[in-house]
Amino acid sequence: MSDESTPQPVTPSVTILAKNNGPFLVDGPFRLVDADGNEYDVPAGKKVNLCRCGGSTRKPFCDGTHSRIGFEAAERAVRAADEGEATGQAPQGGQATAGGQAPQA
Ligand code: FES
Repeated sequence: MSDESTPQPVTPSVTILAKNNGPFLVDGPFRLVDADGNEYDVPAGKKVNLCRCGGSTRKPFCDGTHSRIGFEAAERAVRAADEGEATGQAPQGGQATAGGQAPQA
């Protein structure tokens, strides 16, 4: 019998890939809605590129403008344990951080 207070692992059904210097590629069954809750037409079963450079004329979808404007996205998922090594701070768990930066070469 499981303890209801223990968080159960959740298997994500959607994957969002932050493409190199490009859009977010969303893969999986999802709904995309605007600020008013109106749903965008998203083809079922298709991967969708969402603009993160801010330059698309088809927002929230990517139209390729990121390539023309030289959008650079340097972020990488960095685990907190790795950040601790880089900064000399104690590691805090093992989760990737949203604001993680790519290691400098
Ligand atoms: S990420 Fe492609 S147009 Fe913005």
